[in-house]
Amino acid sequence: MNRPRPRAKHILHVLPIVLANLGLALTLGACGGKQPPPPAADCPAPEKAADADTEKKSEEFAPPSLDTIPEGPYGDAVRRGQRIITDTQTYAADYAGSAHNCSNCHLYAGQRPGAAPYWAAWGMYPDYRKKTDRIDTMEDRIRGCFEYSMNAQASKAGKAPEAGDPLLADIQAYMRWLATEAPASHELPGRGYATPAKPEGGPSLEAGAEVYASKCAICHGDDGQGMRAEGEALHFPPLWGPEAYNWGAGMHRINTAAGFIQGNMPLGQGGTLTDKEAWDVAAFINSHERPKDPRQVGEVAEADASFHDHDCMYGESAEGGATLGAGATKPAAAG
Ligand code: HEC
Ligand code: HEC
Repeated sequence: MNRPRPRAKHILHVLPIVLANLGLALTLGACGGKQPPPPAADCPAPEKAADADTEKKSEEFAPPSLDTIPEGPYGDAVRRGQRIITDTQTYAADYAGSAHNCSNCHLYAGQRPGAAPYWAAWGMYPDYRKKTDRIDTMEDRIRGCFEYSMNAQASKAGKAPEAGDPLLADIQAYMRWLATEAPASHELPGRGYATPAKPEGGPSLEAGAEVYASKCAICHGDDGQGMRAEGEALHFPPLWGPEAYNWGAGMHRINTAAGFIQGNMPLGQGGTLTDKEAWDVAAFINSHERPKDPRQVGEVAEADASFHDHDCMYGESAEGGATLGAGATKPAAAG
């Protein structure tokens, strides 16, 4: 179904409610906005955030303050990397097939504990990954997020940046800088996402729909398509449909999405959903069609057997009976 993107007017309409919800998160959100990002120093570090869920736990590593990025070629690369990950739509436009910036999932410019922070990832690669069944370097790992989370197959380039692309070097320079003084090759507290327990009997789509309607739709839209205003810093990313992460992305796994959601959503109120609510709403989001799994060459059933032996809705029946996994594509008019 073709759904026109909600217009800026819609955003202005919900703005007062959203502002009340967001508090300082809005200021932080501006760092991931559509406009050219502000000077790095304007992006507060996570420990400065005011809302309850952003209080830094004492054992957590704190990345350096952004105003200490050095001058010179290395500092320039760090600043470019920060721009790329907070405004991927502009600074890696050729490779963005989804409507996301990296920082929509790696919150606060990749600094927020419990939102797969980059300072915690930096020292952990190269590593063996089950998904690729080989040793992945950090460059491979970043290319993976372009391929799946950013759905590069639908981008202008049609694929993730090639190994050796300067974009990937800049992103890594920013990660290395965030990890300044972090112990390398050490599993730091705050890495990845929370791990809420799977509810007995599995998640409920009906209960998830209720959580969604009451706690998520205000920002992500009744139809899950998010909201974006051209030229505005506000950017509520889509959760399903043609501009969302694809069927191969980590977030399509119910457990992974549940962990991200419990720690970080509703935005500014992380830590407020129960384990069951997080699983239910994660299952609900992931029971909607999205771009196809780029690894799928034959039928959905074949890809299901090869790549989807985990908690997910791929290959299951959607509402109305269609098999999930066929793939949502952008309507031609939306370009
Ligand atoms: C106050 C607005 C707001 C509310 C309410 C909200 N979100 Fe979000 N959500 C955002 C924003 C903004 C981002 C991107 C974060 C950033 O860039 O800092 C986001 C990101 C996400 C993402 C990762 C990005 C993506 O597109 O996949 C998921 C998943 C998500 N939200 C799910 C939820 C769920 C589930 C709820 C309800 C429990 C919810 N959100 C409630 C604003 C909101
Ligand atoms: C739609 C959400 C989403 C977007 C957008 C996204 N990622 Fe990710 N990323 C994930 C998920 C989910 C994981 C896996 C986290 C986990 O399982 O703990 C991940 C993991 C990673 C990791 C490894 C983290 C670790 O601790 O091992 C890196 C590095 C990474 N992403 C970089 C990027 C970059 C760079 C971009 C933008 C080009 C990006 N991601 C965009 C969701 C996203």
